[in-house]
Amino acid sequence: MSQGQNAPDTLEKAADLLQQGLGTAFKAGGSSGRQVKNLLNGVWFGHPLHPAMTDIPVGFWMLSTTFDLLSGANKDSRLAPGADAALGLGILGAFGAAATGLTDWSDTYGKERRTGLIHALLNTSALTANCLSWILRRQGRRKLAVLLSTTALGVTTYSSYLGGEMVFNLGTLINRNAWATGPEDWTPVMPSNALPENTLCKTRANGTNILLVRQAGNIFAINETCSHAGGPLSEGHLEKDTVICPWHGSRFCLVDGKVLDGPATFKAPVYQVRESGGQVEVRSAINHG
Ligand code: FES
Repeated sequence: MSQGQNAPDTLEKAADLLQQGLGTAFKAGGSSGRQVKNLLNGVWFGHPLHPAMTDIPVGFWMLSTTFDLLSGANKDSRLAPGADAALGLGILGAFGAAATGLTDWSDTYGKERRTGLIHALLNTSALTANCLSWILRRQGRRKLAVLLSTTALGVTTYSSYLGGEMVFNLGTLINRNAWATGPEDWTPVMPSNALPENTLCKTRANGTNILLVRQAGNIFAINETCSHAGGPLSEGHLEKDTVICPWHGSRFCLVDGKVLDGPATFKAPVYQVRESGGQVEVRSAINHG
């Protein structure tokens, strides 16, 4: 029995509904929706944006709790305004972290999707508790407010662990081409006459899958594995000088490997390519400029 079958049905159904809702919302926005998704994924950043955003609420909430505890231990209320301000800034930052996290999560499957949903539910609980704490502080009910925000920090800490679990154990959002070097020297990969015009062709050199495309007198060679989650770019769609991943629609430029649409954020490694002796040859661009 697979892990998916073991998972509670309600969690799977909730994940389905939420992902469908997010997908519909982004699609309904047309090109603007796509740009918003790219922004939240971190395409412009060249790195997933969510991990950077999460530092804001976690950092401020830790500061707030530290001030609260020092204030309580010393029976000194001078740190209370600082604790309240840090709590409020963390709440603001949490909305950014939630938006980026949900966007990344909308393109996940299986165990990482379930773990991500639990991560999101815990974070939502912590955010709600912190919002209540902030209101209680305004009403002068400080003891209950501090209890709530301190508990929320514990929930946030466990949830952060789950976020790390997703990246380091399940491989969510890691660069699938981090170790892809390609051949150092010119390596023949296929006969020239086997590479037609405007066709996605997969080949392999030095243990690396490479995508070849011949277009208007040029041959482009980029890594065939999508940097987002490992999708096979050779099974995707060719649009002018770009290739679109068949799994979640990331678009890469064939000329320089740049990500034009996410959810991928890491560019595709590009290889040098030439024709020699009736063969298409490639080599890594890393050591040869
Ligand atoms: S694997 Fe997700 S866009 Fe390619």
